[in-house]
Amino acid sequence: MKIDDFRLEKFFNKYEFNAPYLLCCSDCESMPLGELLSLEPDAKENFLKSQLGYSESFGDPELLFEISKTYDCIDERGILEFAGAQEAIFIFMNSVLEKGDHLITMFPAYQSTYEICRAIGCEVSNWELVQTSNGWTIDTDSLANLVKPNTKIIALCSPNNPTGYCLSMEQNKAIASLAQRHGLLVFSDEVYRGLSENEPPSFADIYESAF
Ligand SMILES: Cc1ncc(COP(=O)(O)O)c(C=O)c1O
Repeated sequence: MKIDDFRLEKFFNKYEFNAPYLLCCSDCESMPLGELLSLEPDAKENFLKSQLGYSESFGDPELLFEISKTYDCIDERGILEFAGAQEAIFIFMNSVLEKGDHLITMFPAYQSTYEICRAIGCEVSNWELVQTSNGWTIDTDSLANLVKPNTKIIALCSPNNPTGYCLSMEQNKAIASLAQRHGLLVFSDEVYRGLSENEPPSFADIYESAF
């Protein structure tokens, strides 16, 4: 598999650790480990007792349970842990897609989502966000026009990186019903979930074939 350059990472590689002020980050300010461990009584002692070694294949059961609490309709059996979202994108796309399949991606979006698909040999169509004087917007009706006989996945990124645009519950329902009609999977990148006010529930809570 030949994956094209990840343009964002190339940019970061050049500037991230030497620019005096970083205005391009998408993550929030991080905290030292000691500060994190001070948030809960006994956390530091428990952390220092952690045993290094192999973990369970699906991930640590306690963490699976805690993650499941952020969903309404999914319990810990529906969760898989990864070392980061990048790894989850890579594994999901490689598990589900075959050469010749078609993916529709909200655009702009995080490059891995569509670049991995291209590297597998899939066709990619952009479902484009549009910038207006009132901010970004996207037309749910136009999504239907992008569906082809070989479409397998609709990939969403909401809250969106890089625009910050957040799909509403109404839009999510319209996407879910389109996906249902055509038997499509929805891959919903919710890395920034929780950053916007009045966000709808996770897509996995409203559509059973969403990941
Ligand atoms: C929308 C989006 N998805 C996925 C990722 C990758 O996340 P991770 O660094 O956890 O692999 C990022 C990282 O910035 C992102 O912005």
